[in-house]
Amino acid sequence: MKKRALITGITGQDGSYLAELLLAKDYDVIGMVRRTSTVNYERIAHIQDRITFAPGDLLDEASLIEVLREHRPDEVYNLAAQSFVQTSFSQPVLTGETTALGVTRLLDAIRIVDPDVRFYQASSSEMFGKVVEVPQRETTPLYPRSPYGVAKVYGHWITINYRESYGLHASSGMLFNHESPRRGLEFVTRKISHGVAQIKLGRESELRLGNLEAQRDWGFAGDYVEAMWAMLQRDEPDDYVVATGETHSVREFCEIAFSHVGLDYDDHVVVDERFMRPAEVDLLVGDPGKARTVLGWEPQVSFRQLVEMMVDADLALLRGDLNDLSHP
Ligand code: NAP
Ligand code: GDD
Repeated sequence: MKKRALITGITGQDGSYLAELLLAKDYDVIGMVRRTSTVNYERIAHIQDRITFAPGDLLDEASLIEVLREHRPDEVYNLAAQSFVQTSFSQPVLTGETTALGVTRLLDAIRIVDPDVRFYQASSSEMFGKVVEVPQRETTPLYPRSPYGVAKVYGHWITINYRESYGLHASSGMLFNHESPRRGLEFVTRKISHGVAQIKLGRESELRLGNLEAQRDWGFAGDYVEAMWAMLQRDEPDDYVVATGETHSVREFCEIAFSHVGLDYDDHVVVDERFMRPAEVDLLVGDPGKARTVLGWEPQVSFRQLVEMMVDADLALLRGDLNDLSHP
């Protein structure tokens, strides 16, 4: 019989790649979508006919129970969240409701409707925040630096708590930053790749950014959804760091992105205080050893390939060679 998976956050970056992966594995894919005034399916336009959409919102537990009762998934991937760190400083309560308590609502709905469901929680390297160990691994103590990070710590621990309290098959993926041409425009990598394309095409002359010294362990989103799936295929639920093991600064990202189109970032990047954060995460670099050994997971796309892929895709998008975000 075909397996059935429910994805929350299917309209987001990761939701689109995970949906593609599960469809390729012959799953029935149910995508939970919240009510919006305009339809927001540009990342999944190319597969939308093969997805069953179910209305629901992490803020409303009854809607989650209803989705589970109606669709009876074998696996649930909780990718929905208020995921932008900067916004979490201006909307901390909404971030907590969605990114923290939303996890409890979904776990509780699973406990009530079908405790045999396998559950994936999208945890984050942002939980390591002001890091107390380098590189960060599953056992590294957590020290979040933003309301988003704090909310993810709650989501991570409530997942472990439901596993231990009710025996749920609930796993937590502690994923480091992962990017793609489908990344939201507000995140720094896409802001840079899109900015570079605008400047190259003569539509802008400068790109305003915040902290250029922040270092991140950046991978490709298409690789990272493979690890999510692999976690739910294990007999036992567990927690895994998913990362490349390399770190690079925002400045390095700029250097490669601009030089890829024959420009010098120094001529165009302007540091703007508005994009600085009240508390910063200076350095993230993960140790993916456990994911490699237990899940057999390896990232396929290098840092340079990722940067160049994103710049090329934004150039194509702005030139009109692509009309949506469904390219890889
Ligand atoms: P994203 O592009 O921002 O997508 C977030 C998704 O959540 C969207 O589909 C959004 O729906 C949905 N959503 C927001 N609030 C909701 C609510 N109240 N009810 C139901 N759905 C809601 O995020 P992403 O980059 O794909 O990340 C996926 C998950 O992984 C997130 O939980 C994120 O925090 C986590 N994570 C991401 C990274 C990374 O580097 N990308 C790293 C670690 C962890 P709309 O389209 O309607 O807004
Ligand atoms: N967004 C943004 N915009 N960030 C900037 C800018 C700018 O103009 N200038 C510098 N930065 C720096 C930020 O201060 C941060 O140190 C770094 O670039 C990365 O910022 P984001 O791309 O916004 O990502 P993030 O690391 O804060 O959060 C992402 O990764 C987390 C995993 O570690 C998000 O995807 C989270 O949802 C995810 O959990």
